[in-house]
Amino acid sequence: NETIYILAIESSCDDTSAAILSNKKVLSNVTATQKIHEEYGGVVPELASRAHQQNIVPVVHQALDKANIDKKLVSAIAFTRGPGLMGSLLVGTSFAKSLSLGLNIPLIEVNHMQAHILAHFIEGQPDGAPEFPFLGMTISGGHTQIVLVKDYFDMEILGETLDDAVGEAYDKSAKILGLPYPGGPLVDKYAQEGNPKAFLFPKPKVDGLNFSFSGLKTSILYFVQRETAKNPDFVQENLKDICASIQKTIINILMDKLKKAVEQTGITQIAIGGGVSANSGIRNALKMAEKNRGWKTFVPKFEYCTDNAAMIGIVGHLKYQQNKFAKQDVSAKPRYVL
Ligand code: KG4
Ligand code: ZN
Repeated sequence: NETIYILAIESSCDDTSAAILSNKKVLSNVTATQKIHEEYGGVVPELASRAHQQNIVPVVHQALDKANIDKKLVSAIAFTRGPGLMGSLLVGTSFAKSLSLGLNIPLIEVNHMQAHILAHFIEGQPDGAPEFPFLGMTISGGHTQIVLVKDYFDMEILGETLDDAVGEAYDKSAKILGLPYPGGPLVDKYAQEGNPKAFLFPKPKVDGLNFSFSGLKTSILYFVQRETAKNPDFVQENLKDICASIQKTIINILMDKLKKAVEQTGITQIAIGGGVSANSGIRNALKMAEKNRGWKTFVPKFEYCTDNAAMIGIVGHLKYQQNKFAKQDVSAKPRYVL
């Protein structure tokens, strides 16, 4: 069996990333994170595409250098076609198409949300790879979905957010608390030192396996406004407890829906993906469910949770094996459904 070398490119939001995979093994995974958005408290699409334009050539060169392979060895180029920001996607898409033409090798288009789930098939993941069928939960800054994964390319969305994504809920709560963007990791950090029972935030009532997070953000805003009116230092004095209480509420919302999905499907293998899978609360809750509920849970390595090209590369590998190639006229697709 020949070795398949995939050069993968991810540029759907604010991270420019390139990776080289040798079969299912990651040889390099280089990401340039855009710092510019911090100043604005969120991703500014126009600035993101400009930064991708500047970063993409050096990032691809670094990925090739680190993998220490000649670009003549590359079997195919995989790139994120969507979903994501149009301007950002266009940079990666155009670059990948040009490179495929220049090197005269096949092109593979990848759905970013599929990639967050299929990242579990990268060699060397701590929990190994799940077996079909399993439940995927993608929790990121742009998406919150529970997915029934029947096969690599046969997935069905069982539920998703009706408004904000869970990462967005973290980031917006953090902003209310005066924390810099992206605030999710900071809320997580303070939460680990606080009392989760200090404050109570309401859980939304949403049917089925769908989610809603916009109400939580509003209740946190009103709560902070009300308490700050009484004591201007309320947030500083209670930051860890507030964060722990927010974290508990969010993790309960996610776990309630997962339990429901397990009941509905009878499937007890759960694989999570996306930036919020880095969260200590969800990681602990899943470990508890392994013990108490007999689930088998899969959490990716940290570097494959947030946006990265290695996960695009594994999808590239799997599609290469199935001869699923894209044509040169393929275009970016900001609203690419799973
Ligand atoms: O997957 P990702 O890198 O980009 C998107 O596709 O959105 O996810 C980024 C999101 C951000 O909202 C960030 O705050 C959140 O993931 N995040 C976390 C943690 N690490 C990243 N949220 C909570 N706890 C964390 N430890
Ligand atoms: Zn993502």
